[in-house]
Amino acid sequence: MLAISLAVAADRSDVLVLPVRAATDPDATVPALVATAPPPTDEVRTEAEALLPATRLTGRAGETLTQLRPGRAPARLLLLGVGDGGERAWRTAGAALARAAVDETHVTLALPVDMTAGAVRALVEGLLLASYRFRVAEGGPAPALTGVTLLAAAPDALADAVEAARTTARMTRLARDLTNTPSSVKNPQWFAAQVESAAAGQPDLHLRVRGPQELAAEGFGGILAVGGGSASTPRLVELDWHPADARLHVVLVGKGITFDTGGISIKPVPAMKLMRKDMAGAAAVVAATLGAAALRLPVRVTALAPLAENMVSGAAFRPGDIIRHYDGTTSESTNSDAEGRLVLADALGYAVRELRPDLLVDLATLTGANAVALGKRTGALYSENDELAAAVLAAVDDAGEAAWRMPLPADYLEHLGSDLADRHSSPDRGAGSVIAALYLREFTGELRDRWLHIDMSAPSWADGDDAELTRGATGWGVRGLLRWLATLG
Ligand code: BES
Ligand code: MN
Ligand code: ZN
Repeated sequence: MLAISLAVAADRSDVLVLPVRAATDPDATVPALVATAPPPTDEVRTEAEALLPATRLTGRAGETLTQLRPGRAPARLLLLGVGDGGERAWRTAGAALARAAVDETHVTLALPVDMTAGAVRALVEGLLLASYRFRVAEGGPAPALTGVTLLAAAPDALADAVEAARTTARMTRLARDLTNTPSSVKNPQWFAAQVESAAAGQPDLHLRVRGPQELAAEGFGGILAVGGGSASTPRLVELDWHPADARLHVVLVGKGITFDTGGISIKPVPAMKLMRKDMAGAAAVVAATLGAAALRLPVRVTALAPLAENMVSGAAFRPGDIIRHYDGTTSESTNSDAEGRLVLADALGYAVRELRPDLLVDLATLTGANAVALGKRTGALYSENDELAAAVLAAVDDAGEAAWRMPLPADYLEHLGSDLADRHSSPDRGAGSVIAALYLREFTGELRDRWLHIDMSAPSWADGDDAELTRGATGWGVRGLLRWLATLG
């Protein structure tokens, strides 16, 4: 990961980055240099100011321009648009800088005199997330940029913000790595082993992994049914951050389908090709819990990741099967492609009965309907609790992610009706994301009004590089969950 440091003066003179904002006078078109601490030398400032009218820069966040200064120090001047100087703008600017400077080895950025901790945090997240790369092959194009020095008059005041950003970015990058990993490698056992090594040696952080025998003995029928068709057996990961000073207990449940073929109700080729990402919810909740531990947040957080591979085989569960869940209720499943809710049902039932948390949150790449309703960027958020919904929406938004609250209409409950079982898990008509949420709500018991669900199928993946997102897994949810957890306790 890119090394970010704070300093009062430049120790390298290869590249100096100066922030640029839009002209404050509405009639002026030429952007202005932002006052920084320390200020650039008179020579550099005069040169940059002379340059500005000759460029197409407007000061918008994310614009960049590199000016060569052969034989002089700094050797290059990089002008960076920082827009209105708000957190969102700095996140975008940080991401743009990581891309514009990819062929440099080191850059020095002079921060504005009035730089806030929030803006520094956003800047560092932008730098660290946009510089993320995932490759399986050895070698290949590696970014040259290894270090960024941030110049500030009082670096100590910004150190905590940089550290929080580093942790958030490291965990988001972990979630991206897990989600990008091909499913030939990433089976349930492998995922559990990754969690084990990430959690190793940390006090107050406890891991329990249940294998197929324990899942059978304890009645996790949904996880076993979905995982039954695979040569790679299912797991239930339970990762618990339990600090002594915790007053609140949050359980985070994440869908962990390490590959979703659809099962016997097999998916067509285009719908299946990215289904290695169907564990992005599990990756996000595990990474957020590790992040809570790294930041030593004073709140107990338990991540539950039901892990299974939804395959086609002679041992696979069948359309029409009745599944008995952890809570003892039954589901009629007529479409093996609606597998996520079956594994989540067990984990939710377990959380409600055995863990009894104050708040219960689940994240899942649950339905294609998420993208139909809200497009590629926005998660669908469901809760009966207005306060909880507002708090999570605000945290997600502050973190630079996006979610939109969706309804849980009582009259759609009829879709869950079954002649044979307590409920039907896969009705073939109706609002897909909403009905899946209504189905999950069935397993929340007495925590029904302290539960929140996000269908994150759409924003879990980016089709191309865009600001802090890189093509592929986005690590969606880690940033928002960590922001939200930091407000508790
Ligand atoms: N994993 C998929 C949902 C999905 C689709 C995630 C696209 C990411 C991108 C899920 O298991 C699924 O197949 N859902 C079905 C539900 C249906 C059978 C009721 C769907 O959305 O079609
Ligand atoms: Mn499916
Ligand atoms: Zn799925």
